[in-house]
Amino acid sequence: MKILIKNGIILNANKSEQADILISEYKIKKVAKNIKPENSYHIIDANGKFIIPGGIDPHVHMQLPTPAGPSSDDFFSGSRAALFGGTTTIIDFVTPSRGQSMCDALDERILEAKKSLTNYSFHISPVEWRNSTESEITECLKRGFNSFKVYLAYKDAVGLTDEEFENVLKTVGKTGGLVTIHCEDGDKVEVLRNKFVSEGLITPEYHAKSRPAEFEAAAVKKSIDLAAKYNCPIYIVHVSSALSLTHIKDAQQKGQAVFAETCPHYLFLEDSKYIGEFKNTAAYVMSPPLRKKADQEALWEAIKTRTVKTIGTDHCPFNLAQKAVGIDDFRKIPNGAGGVEHRMALLYTYGVLENRISLNEWVDICSTQAAKIFGLSQKGSITVGKDADIVIWNPDYENTISVKNHYQKCDLEIFEGFKTKGLAEIVIRNGEIVVEDGELIVSNNTGKIILR
Ligand code: URP
Ligand code: ZN
Ligand code: ZN
Repeated sequence: MKILIKNGIILNANKSEQADILISEYKIKKVAKNIKPENSYHIIDANGKFIIPGGIDPHVHMQLPTPAGPSSDDFFSGSRAALFGGTTTIIDFVTPSRGQSMCDALDERILEAKKSLTNYSFHISPVEWRNSTESEITECLKRGFNSFKVYLAYKDAVGLTDEEFENVLKTVGKTGGLVTIHCEDGDKVEVLRNKFVSEGLITPEYHAKSRPAEFEAAAVKKSIDLAAKYNCPIYIVHVSSALSLTHIKDAQQKGQAVFAETCPHYLFLEDSKYIGEFKNTAAYVMSPPLRKKADQEALWEAIKTRTVKTIGTDHCPFNLAQKAVGIDDFRKIPNGAGGVEHRMALLYTYGVLENRISLNEWVDICSTQAAKIFGLSQKGSITVGKDADIVIWNPDYENTISVKNHYQKCDLEIFEGFKTKGLAEIVIRNGEIVVEDGELIVSNNTGKIILR
């Protein structure tokens, strides 16, 4: 079916224009004023609406395995929530078990992701260094997966030693690709959290206290220095603190390839959320933890000055019963919270409408930059020849985020009560309408795997 979108305002990262868009066979075929309708076209009148490239969330964890059970959204429910929020592509993770090859783990993850309604790709995690790791990295690159995620925290599960981390940077520095990094000094975190628990300090408040901004910033600095040594481009995920930003900015000013992402929860929520009863505080147990007002301001400033290029959500929700595994020991609370559904509306409401960012910057941080950084060359802008992943955004719609009305499969909602404006009223993915007037109109028709 050919779709003609008329009368809307097209927002790209570099410009806004009033024009029509013709879509045919997955692609944007034409962008021009007054495209003449033909009988066979499905016509959408977008008068008064913004037309934006489908959101790209470069950081989600659907059905992430943890000792408390998998994160509560699987690829179907999580991607459905993403579509309702205007996100048409997600990048999730392949996390092998120690001893398992990354390529085998990739095959398994591809099967799990087949039910995704959005398009999807993966970052692949070396969780150890084996004789075969270098050739596995090369194989992943050949297969179209060019970003490798390492954890400097979670030492007992997926975290790398310094030597292993260095090996990854050295290798990707040679082979090409990008290393994405969870930056927290995992050894120091272990010492502090064990000390708190031994003193009987077991509540979520001490989760946050055991992961101070200094530990994050130290890991950021170490990553930057090692990446410079091996000439390896890096992408720091979920940057939460002002201190980390100073190191990132310094490196960028020296011309080093260092990209940074932050998440909506670090922009909109503060560490006061950890004070109170377990049932009200456990939802905010995530790593890094929520920070201070001053960190939020520094993050907004860094978005404005492009030190931070992308907003990922780190979507990783858990139900209260899963969080409750750690009611007597915060170390057992599964880390993470949902966000994929509300990213675009939160950034529109509290970014654009509060004059922190322009409409074009909103598109840039929610879609275009992720496409550029991660090699999604067919996505991230409304241009002839690009994939037709398009959102028709109704700027007047009002919502109050709540566990009662969200689509993500979780009985917790960290943005509960936040008022938002804007709705992904029509979502077109791969040239097909998949959401219309708040209704999902796609059933078995899933997204595509994206090779990068
Ligand atoms: O708390 C978090 N961030 N959970 C998800 C895993 C990760 O560290 O990104
Ligand atoms: Zn992380
Ligand atoms: Zn994550």
